[in-house]
Amino acid sequence: MRVSMWFLVLLLVFGFNDRSFAHQRPRTERISGSAGDVLEDDPVGRLKVYVYELPSKYNKKLLQKDPRCLTYMFAAEIFIHRFLLSSAVRTLNPDEADWFYTPIYTTCDLTPTGMPLPFKSPRMMRSAIQLISTNWPYWNRTEGADHFFVVPHDFGACFHYQEEKAIKRGILPLLQRATLVQTFGQRNHVCLNEGSITIPPYAPPQKMQARQIPPETPRSIFVYFRGLFYDVNNDPEGGYYARGARAAVWENFKNNPLFDISTEHPTTYYEDMQRAIFCLCPLGWAPWSPRLVEAVVFGCIPVIIADDIVLPFADAIPWEQIGVFVAEEDVPNLDMILTSIPTEEILRKQRLLANPSMKRAMLFPQPAQSGDAFHQILNGLARKLPHDEKIFLKPGEKVLNWTAGPVGDLKPW
Ligand SMILES: *[C@@H]1O[C@H](CO)[C@@H](O)[C@H](O)[C@H]1NC(C)=O
Ligand SMILES: *[C@@H]1O[C@H](CO)[C@@H](O)[C@H](O)[C@H]1NC(C)=O
Repeated sequence: MRVSMWFLVLLLVFGFNDRSFAHQRPRTERISGSAGDVLEDDPVGRLKVYVYELPSKYNKKLLQKDPRCLTYMFAAEIFIHRFLLSSAVRTLNPDEADWFYTPIYTTCDLTPTGMPLPFKSPRMMRSAIQLISTNWPYWNRTEGADHFFVVPHDFGACFHYQEEKAIKRGILPLLQRATLVQTFGQRNHVCLNEGSITIPPYAPPQKMQARQIPPETPRSIFVYFRGLFYDVNNDPEGGYYARGARAAVWENFKNNPLFDISTEHPTTYYEDMQRAIFCLCPLGWAPWSPRLVEAVVFGCIPVIIADDIVLPFADAIPWEQIGVFVAEEDVPNLDMILTSIPTEEILRKQRLLANPSMKRAMLFPQPAQSGDAFHQILNGLARKLPHDEKIFLKPGEKVLNWTAGPVGDLKPW
């Protein structure tokens, strides 16, 4: 333990990359086997998506009211709609569609400080489903089992930002059979349906690309993190925020020279991540934190601290190989865990992260590029085909209960 710690200190002093590693930096490594390769799949020809046409009050009007919805972390909701409208997988003939998409921006209702409010979302969603189920025959055929919905909010289709309330609500009953495309991902949680597609949050691609520094720049920071350690407003005791993982990082390592951690968000944040070997991602309940996207885009090995997390596109991105997973209870040993990772393993992770297909899969660029997050969503939907015959209901068969759920949700929107 001690030996490798000193080895690292030496590496830091003499420059981690510009000596022995310089010649290896620009090389990237492909992932062999099915995972990794599927990132480059082309969804065109493998599925057809029908986009319902809804009155603009369900989408465009909300965006007009608040253009901030285009730049915040849940903006994927809007960009996926735009992407699908001009995508080669779109079909104008619903009879040949494999999947149905309802363009509804349930997350685009922001407070003055830009936090999304999910209180109207259930009524809005219900209203949209009522509309598509009366105007087209496709919803009733399966009660939504061949429909997908983008619900990027904190706890997805549970539509609440506080966990206990989200759990109490559960997934909106009308969405029980649908495929949910969401940023929330936690195993064995009522707000994650089996078969959901976990996606990265939206992080501004142009802004990140504009701040790339030369890839041969030495990574002279060992561990990097910027962000809150305590959420004093919502959680004065500090035990709840990110399930205490962030508080534990601060208490244990605030004075450790290997740890460059602080609440201050410097203007060189993006550049610093490109100078760091490990970037902490204490995600807790918030897999939608942009940190994970930033770490991958900037080639900083993500240290994922979030028990039972389901990471974005986990069936296509080899997270175990590119990242380091640290159990929440092991945070006090983070220094030992990270300093005892063999150098070859660090280099391998860096080479895998340098693979452009990893970075592309985490971003929603405008215009779209092959292999980007839009394409990964389509690939995920394509892999679920063909649909099981059982999803098609018999004539007169009903499964969903239109009056289930909180009474307040039943009010018209
Ligand atoms: C679908 O079913 C609902 C209620 O079960 C009914 O009100 C609606 O008219 C049906 N839609 C179509 C297009 O037949
Ligand atoms: C539908 O849900 C309501 C409210 O929970 C409940 O009272 C009713 O019995 C349910 N209907 C069926 C058919 O299960």
